[in-house]
Amino acid sequence: MSIYLDHAATTPLRREVLDAMLPFLTETFGNPSSAHAYGRAARAALDDAHERVAARLGAEAREIVFTSGGTEANNLALKGAAWAGKARGHRIVTSAVEHHAVGHTLRYLEKFGFEIVELPVDRYGRVDPDELEAALSDRTILVSIMLANNEVGTIQPIGPIAERVRARKGILLHVDAVQAAPWIDLDVRDLEADFVSIAAHKFEGPKGVGVLYMRHGTHILAQQHGGSQERHRRAGTENLAGAIGLATAYELNGVERPEAVARIRTARERLAEAVLAVDGTELTGHPFDRLPGLLSIIAQDTDGNAVAVALDLEGIAASVGSACATGSTEVSHVLSAMGYPEDEARGSLRLSLGRTTSDEDIDVAVEVVPRVLASLRRGSAAVARDPFGQGDGGRHSTTSVPA
Ligand SMILES: Cc1ncc(COP(=O)(O)O)c(C=O)c1O
Repeated sequence: MSIYLDHAATTPLRREVLDAMLPFLTETFGNPSSAHAYGRAARAALDDAHERVAARLGAEAREIVFTSGGTEANNLALKGAAWAGKARGHRIVTSAVEHHAVGHTLRYLEKFGFEIVELPVDRYGRVDPDELEAALSDRTILVSIMLANNEVGTIQPIGPIAERVRARKGILLHVDAVQAAPWIDLDVRDLEADFVSIAAHKFEGPKGVGVLYMRHGTHILAQQHGGSQERHRRAGTENLAGAIGLATAYELNGVERPEAVARIRTARERLAEAVLAVDGTELTGHPFDRLPGLLSIIAQDTDGNAVAVALDLEGIAASVGSACATGSTEVSHVLSAMGYPEDEARGSLRLSLGRTTSDEDIDVAVEVVPRVLASLRRGSAAVARDPFGQGDGGRHSTTSVPA
């Protein structure tokens, strides 16, 4: 049986979530914009999904925009706010460790004359709120800082950051909470953000559906044109089953989170202890202010891709930096920003646990991962002949890492 330690890439869809979605893929299939009974039933369910997500986020139903995922939520917030704010200014402040769904969107906006200020981070991947404050000018319209990093799990000091932004009238704050949402209780009243992005597939919901929370009264220019869905903010017939799936998964996550966080943190620590006992390994990201399920390391003199392949052959699905970086020859922009030289950054490995990770999974991982790392580090002829020590008697089957 294979062991899935790549929950930061995506999580399995929960059975209860699928069950909640199925009626909206079958009998209640109406278009929420239709006036007849089918449409009204779909509309009622969609309205309910808005209410349920809003309740979880401490928001109002009208502040919830369903999107096709975290990427679209980020694009809508950034492009929407940039174009709506262009008359007031053109500066947008962000960090050097954002997900590409933010970083590449801002690079696109740069081509249209927006000035993008990318704040450096410290060795742990954290933004300094004072440096952020210094980067705010009268021409600044938007700040985008993630709550937790997808590669190293570091949690940003979002309270002090929001405070600095709020002190300057007219600057909007976007928080990419896609990676944080499964683990951190999000309340938009505490976050004091104007935009918050989340995605269902990170908390056992379906892929291809996300939410952009938009504070009421915040103005954006829609990025997709057509019908008047989502209060004119996102045209297109709604993914009703997806919205129901997101709402259901997020509610279940909220109920179970305290127990899951404590259990998974303990499991992660057990794994960290075993992995970091291997010579030449180092934890990346913040030692404490980090997501409970995420263990990211650098193993010197290894190639993270080779380690991930070797683990895959032993039945453990892990990833190098982030799923998006897998297979690419570029080293992680996150590790580079944190000051790791290219040769060290190449040895990065991310193991991410989820609610469904069992103690038995970790029992196997604490044996296999250090052994694979140690053998690849040695890089001897003997290792080449017998790459993984074959000490497990074939206990671990071989499966490929899901895309
Ligand atoms: C921090 C962060 N932002 C945005 C995204 C993109 O979300 P999606 O895969 O739903 O488009 C991800 C996905 O890995 C992420 O980790």
